[in-house]
Amino acid sequence: MTYKIAVIPGDGIGPEVVREGLKVLEAAAARTDVRYQLQHFDLGGERYLRTGEVLPDAVLDELRGYDAIYLGAIGHPEVAPGILEKGLLLRIRFDLDQYINLRPVKLYPGVDTPLKDKGPEDIDFVVVRENTEGLYSGMGGIQYKGTPHEVSTQIHMTTRHGAERAIRYAFELCRKRNRAKKLTLCAKTNVLTFVHDTWWRAFNEVGDADYPDIERDYAHVDATTMWMVKNPEWFDVIVTDNMFGDIITDLGAMIQGGLGVAAGGNINPEGVSMFEPIGGSAPKYTGQNVACPIAAIAAVQMLLEELGETAAAARIEGAIERALASGKIKSLAAGQMGMSTSEVGDLIAGFAGA
Ligand code: IPM
Ligand code: MN
Repeated sequence: MTYKIAVIPGDGIGPEVVREGLKVLEAAAARTDVRYQLQHFDLGGERYLRTGEVLPDAVLDELRGYDAIYLGAIGHPEVAPGILEKGLLLRIRFDLDQYINLRPVKLYPGVDTPLKDKGPEDIDFVVVRENTEGLYSGMGGIQYKGTPHEVSTQIHMTTRHGAERAIRYAFELCRKRNRAKKLTLCAKTNVLTFVHDTWWRAFNEVGDADYPDIERDYAHVDATTMWMVKNPEWFDVIVTDNMFGDIITDLGAMIQGGLGVAAGGNINPEGVSMFEPIGGSAPKYTGQNVACPIAAIAAVQMLLEELGETAAAARIEGAIERALASGKIKSLAAGQMGMSTSEVGDLIAGFAGA
């Protein structure tokens, strides 16, 4: 079969890093008989400023017909906060019911971590972030705006169904990884005594009923940030709500070497999933060919994995590892790689196609 892949290069450095991701996809696919066709979509800040359109309904509907979506970055300095994030990124996540945000935190050999005395054997876990509910639900509002009586609410909308499907996905992932077989629930059950009570009961009921082979562990979110720095080796899979998942995965990105390597998947296991480098549009580095493309390349690896193309995915992972171990890339920080974005892409594509 020929996969149909929708490509949304988006804003800022998005197009530059996506170009390298597609270069590596081509190299890996050629060696593994993966066939695909690409369709580029012009979405993001530039289109919004030009036409006022963020994500037309017809385009969203068209996206439903693809096997996967590959996204560069969303966010434009001239567009007010929230418009593109809610109108494009969150709308795709919600409307395509991409209820899992999967974010591996893995330190590759040859990559510096700011954590003293920690290495690749200590930093290798996955965060399963619930991706359609919680504080991101959009429920709430502002009343009496601009007056001394202004009231605003932002509801932490939680459903048993939403919590449970994220938890089940995380248990399954734990089994599949077959490592420590330990699932940590990260929440705040001592304060969010309603919504995280739902999570807590779902976690334990599902675990008791269907996953007796998986060890269950719990950490409050504040403590989680502490352990991620002090003892990252304690984690195998972490499952958490949308907001906490957002926060702890930026911390995760830092301990794995920075946003230049951190990739994520917005997954609907029964539908269309979307893969992206999690770093954002980085306007400061736009158009300079200096941003690290490894996260975007790792997003392609995750995309292939989700499609079941494990050989091609493994080829890309191996290529990233070889490039990082080669010593040629001086740093993963934008502008400090000692190589350009496209040279790093060439290096990895070379390994992926070798
Ligand atoms: C992320 C981003 C998004 C989020 C923003 C851009 C809406 O920070 O993917 O982590 O908060 O989910
Ligand atoms: Mn984020």
